[in-house]
Amino acid sequence: MVLERRVPSLEDRLGSLEELGLYLHIPFCRQICPYCPYNKELYDPDLASKYVEAVSREIDFYARFLGDKPVTSFYVGGGTPTTMLYSGLGEILERIFGAFDMRCEIHMESHPNDLSRQNLEAIKGLGVQHLSMGVEALQDSHLRTLQRPYTVQEAKGAVERAIGAGFKCVNADLIFGLPNQTLTEVEQAGRELVELGVDQVAAYPLFTFPYTKMGREIPSVANGNSGVWQRRKMLQVLEEVFYGAGYARTSVWAFTRPEVPKYCSVTVPLYLGLGASAGSYLRDVFYLNTFKVSEYINSLEQGRVPIALSLELSERMQMAGWLYWRIYETRFSKADFHRRFGRELDSVFGKYLRPLSWAGLLHDDGEEVVLSDEGTYWLHVLEDLFSIDYVGRLWGLSQREPWPERVVL
Ligand SMILES: C[S@@+](CC[C@H](N)C(=O)[O-])C[C@H]1O[C@@H](n2cnc3c(N)ncnc32)[C@H](O)[C@@H]1O
Ligand code: SF4
Repeated sequence: MVLERRVPSLEDRLGSLEELGLYLHIPFCRQICPYCPYNKELYDPDLASKYVEAVSREIDFYARFLGDKPVTSFYVGGGTPTTMLYSGLGEILERIFGAFDMRCEIHMESHPNDLSRQNLEAIKGLGVQHLSMGVEALQDSHLRTLQRPYTVQEAKGAVERAIGAGFKCVNADLIFGLPNQTLTEVEQAGRELVELGVDQVAAYPLFTFPYTKMGREIPSVANGNSGVWQRRKMLQVLEEVFYGAGYARTSVWAFTRPEVPKYCSVTVPLYLGLGASAGSYLRDVFYLNTFKVSEYINSLEQGRVPIALSLELSERMQMAGWLYWRIYETRFSKADFHRRFGRELDSVFGKYLRPLSWAGLLHDDGEEVVLSDEGTYWLHVLEDLFSIDYVGRLWGLSQREPWPERVVL
């Protein structure tokens, strides 16, 4: 697969969409965590105000083609979107709601240190109904390893205040498989989140991307880092805690309380990304904006789209991509596949799915395919073998070079 520095033709592709998801990237944080692979820079108020202008231009560009298309999911991610809570986030959201046919609620990421009562009121005032924050760990020693700027007590306070603020869903991210972390500590973190009453927990194993600080120090970190079997045990411990408390699995890494709408990124298969490093997927093309915030701003100021790389996708690649994300969600319906591609899922992927079904990794009732807990874990380990390497190469290079000529994956 080769992504190239080429702006794809957009007019027809955007015009043919029936509905779409929207992603907005806020690339600022108040500190840079050593393990984090996402595109972000230290928050700077001047840059943030120029960013508002640039995103507004990008919105206006797309609104010409998309004004009447229903937007059925909207996710604000980062970085840390709440860095811009009082410096233009509201303006951007207003612009989006003015420009597009928004038929969805707002999901937004935040940070435990940004969740004072006053800030929570301001977040609710923006219309956010689903809020997520990175709690990451509930032992002070692990928070120190991750260089998170708060204590366990402060993190719990943030979770409690967020829950008390009355969102439809409060999600807490947790990282497991941390250096020298024990199963008991993982269990304790899970139980405490349940006791606090969070609606959803997204529990990720620690990934070490080679271009992050922690990735570069991998030999020393890996000494105390856990392998795939230990991680499987840790996830099993979390499965027991969350299933025992009545939560259901809603993706490979997420457990959600019943009756709560799951907190997730983009829920429709086709989406448009706004902001530095945002990706867009429009059926037969995937493209990425430049990662560097100043370059993103410059190109929009000069009237150019900030697209840095694009990849045209054959039908086979589109189908494989579809399956990848449905495996991530742990279930999929054969009728959805037929609606999207006009072909029978079994005729395309049956030869791979049948052995997995015999091995107990998934259950196929003829209409719907549901992954078992074992299948969820091992199929994802397999996916990660490829995707972490791909994502690492693509994001790593894009963070070093704002306009790469090509990236071979
Ligand atoms: C954009 S951040 C969350 C919002 C906010 N910036 C914060 O830190 O609280 C996305 C989440 O990805 C997860 N994450 C980041 N780097 C990770 C890594 N190397 N391995 C596993 N999970 C990671 C963390 O759980 C983190 O909360
Ligand atoms: S984990 Fe969150 S706060 Fe830390 S660098 Fe990544 S996006 Fe920023």
